[in-house]
Amino acid sequence: MAPNLSPIETAKFAAARRAVDFVEGGMRVGLGSGSTAAWMVRCLGQRVREEGLKITGVPTSDRTAALARAEGITVVALEEARWLDLTIDGTDEFDPDLNLIKGGGGAHLREKIVATASDQMIVIADAAKEVAHLGAFPLPVEVVPFGWQTSKALIEEILVSLDVLGREVTLRMKGDVPFTSDEGNRILDLHLGRIGNARQLALVLNQVPGVVENGLFIDICDRVVIGHGDGRVELR
Ligand code: 5RP
Repeated sequence: MAPNLSPIETAKFAAARRAVDFVEGGMRVGLGSGSTAAWMVRCLGQRVREEGLKITGVPTSDRTAALARAEGITVVALEEARWLDLTIDGTDEFDPDLNLIKGGGGAHLREKIVATASDQMIVIADAAKEVAHLGAFPLPVEVVPFGWQTSKALIEEILVSLDVLGREVTLRMKGDVPFTSDEGNRILDLHLGRIGNARQLALVLNQVPGVVENGLFIDICDRVVIGHGDGRVELR
């Protein structure tokens, strides 16, 4: 399925291919978003077509939904599935406690809802996503468009009061216009450098009026499948 890949794509593909081994017939599976998750959807599609694997997929983004349908996977909304056996998704960072920063693709709101509706969350990642401390990757925070500048100012005040190292907050752009999530919201990226107390920050950010969800996934991920550039895979 994947000839002549670069080392980074080989790593993503290897993690994705190993993770789909955990999927069994009859499961309701949350389908993550991003380039690593896209490999997982293709690998699942291959099992559906070649093995006759019967599953129901719940996509976490419009883009994943389109890919899953093209791969022949039966897709339903979370409202219909209600509860899932397993979610497989990518990440931007994971730490030794398997806490995550997600939302590099701006899909963390649906991703967190789907992951928390699942019995189990498996994260797939290339080895470069492993960090000792979360925060080098800018933390995405989804805010409603109405008064987003006020939400941004309140977040900046919180970062000062929590004595967080980096305090720059930027509005995510797509070309000349603000990036819009699948839910029609804006994304603020928090450039923190290193997050001391991720659990506290995750709770406090969600108290700010206008904030819909932040990209910190605390105690949600059960297992990480790490892919390497030579095709090796490790399980955490
Ligand atoms: C999207 C996400 C992605 O899972 C995350 O950004 C990783 O993406 P990629 O696999 O392309 O590196 O959280 O909101």
